[in-house]
Amino acid sequence: MSKNISFQNQSILITGGSGMVGSQIDFGKKPPRSVLNILDEKSIQNAVKKYRPSAILHLAALVDMQICENSPELAYETNVLGTYNIAKICGEKNIRLVFLSTGAVFNGRKKTPYMETDSASPLNVYGRTKYIGEIIIKDLVKNHLILRTGWLFGGGKKGDKKFALKFFKMMQKGETIFAIQNRYGSPTYVLDLVQGITKLMRSRLTGTIHLVNSGTASYFDIARFMLKSGKFSAKIRAIKILNHASTKLKRGKMEGMKSKKISLRPWQEAMREYINYLIKHIKH
Ligand SMILES: NC(=O)c1ccc[n+]([C@@H]2O[C@H](COP(=O)([O-])OP(=O)(O)OC[C@H]3O[C@@H](n4cnc5c(N)ncnc54)[C@H](OP(=O)(O)O)[C@@H]3O)[C@@H](O)[C@H]2O)c1
Repeated sequence: MSKNISFQNQSILITGGSGMVGSQIDFGKKPPRSVLNILDEKSIQNAVKKYRPSAILHLAALVDMQICENSPELAYETNVLGTYNIAKICGEKNIRLVFLSTGAVFNGRKKTPYMETDSASPLNVYGRTKYIGEIIIKDLVKNHLILRTGWLFGGGKKGDKKFALKFFKMMQKGETIFAIQNRYGSPTYVLDLVQGITKLMRSRLTGTIHLVNSGTASYFDIARFMLKSGKFSAKIRAIKILNHASTKLKRGKMEGMKSKKISLRPWQEAMREYINYLIKHIKH
């Protein structure tokens, strides 16, 4: 775990420290939004003055894809303007900037997982705002590292607002789960992601890196794996996406990623560990 990895005398400032990822990080300064608001330049300047960071880990974002689609102004404000504000000060003060991005920057038409060398072409508001954030960072900050990650599971109180904990609770209750079979992603354990971020932050690497547990899966594959690992007796039904006829939100069929530069353990190994954790801690 990141506990063993010290940053010596480096000071690290983290935005979005209370979130699903940030809450699992045990280094650096994590001022709450009331103190460090990425939309308030003065609060950013004050935090930089106070902590004199050698690196900023920028996690703060509007992440919920459906909310971004329904409130694009809010998504652009947080993910583009907020990222611009952070990038600007990093560029001016020569601070290393590490940014967490997403596979939603791709259009999902590829048949195999996306590599760092593939071109981005986002389909929805969330993906577009994160991609614009990437472009701004590349433009303003020489010492930058963009880490694109996948379908996250695990992580504190805010953990698993998405799928894994939801599936787990439904399985505990013996409910039938309807899971998409024809969209693929890179399921990634927040604790593994944090370990990877910690390692890469300490390195001198710059540029863009895909940081995900290895292997791709659909939600159906994940649910089936969880069912087997937890020895549950719930039922899982495969469903197919029909290009979101009833919602504005467009998503591609391939959201999985792969890296030539770093590889985390297979998602199944990480998921098994997480399920054992849930079995011990979540009573139904
Ligand atoms: N979760 C995923 O599946 C996933 C996948 C790929 C990439 N990512 C990326 O990973 C990063 C972290 O995601 P997450 O899941 O940890 O997000 P999260 O749980 O939704 O947390 C978002 C964080 O951003 C903070 N925030 C929002 N607006 C802010 C503002 N104006 N000023 C300061 N802080 C603000 C929130 O503060 P409050 O607590 O005050 O609301 C919270 O700490 C994001 O950049 C996201 O795009 C996430």
